[in-house]
Amino acid sequence: MSLHLGDVAPNFTANTSLGEIDFYEYLGDSWGILFSHPADYTPVCTTELGRTASLKAEFEKRNVKVLALSVDPVDKHLGWISDINETQNCTVDFPIIADDDRKVSNLFDFLHPNASATLTVRSLVIIAPDKTVKLIITYPASTGRNFVEVLRVVDSLQLTANYSVATPVDWKAGENVIVVPAISTPDAIKKFPKGVEEIKPYLRYTPQPNID
Ligand code: BEZ
Repeated sequence: MSLHLGDVAPNFTANTSLGEIDFYEYLGDSWGILFSHPADYTPVCTTELGRTASLKAEFEKRNVKVLALSVDPVDKHLGWISDINETQNCTVDFPIIADDDRKVSNLFDFLHPNASATLTVRSLVIIAPDKTVKLIITYPASTGRNFVEVLRVVDSLQLTANYSVATPVDWKAGENVIVVPAISTPDAIKKFPKGVEEIKPYLRYTPQPNID
């Protein structure tokens, strides 16, 4: 099944390294990140999961719950988690789905048969509290993802969910943002009291509205 931005993420139950979970119950009212890994005991995945564990406070600050997936069974996950904790100097305390029957991978389109007949690709899905899909990225097995970029996207998604703004190229939290084209410049001036800089009628900047 293919999954697109704006779709409602499907619910599922799954065995994980922390026991059986119901996806929606696990997410509750939080934002969610579900990300797939080709297999256990692989080097790039080991670094990605370690990095995710080390960024726990950053995810919590943003009200994001993370959930990993690999196509190996729970007992293998548990041994691998010990290795991740040891080698990456972290504590993996989020669940890793044991998707040995590929049920969740099929629901979320994590299997790309022309990349690998059996292993999942390196995909990552961000889900809003209303369970709609806000971001899908897919990397090949050979390229680890950048979790600073993942946090940056979460910041953008959470900002743009609440204000009529978009974030420009390479934007980072705290920098000026773009007024969306649907708002006229006179309306933008009323809406954004910190000021609006009009470079072109379609290119208007304003300071990030949700910070002092
Ligand atoms: C890895 O996670 O290190 C990896 C997995 C499959 C192929 C190449 C690298």
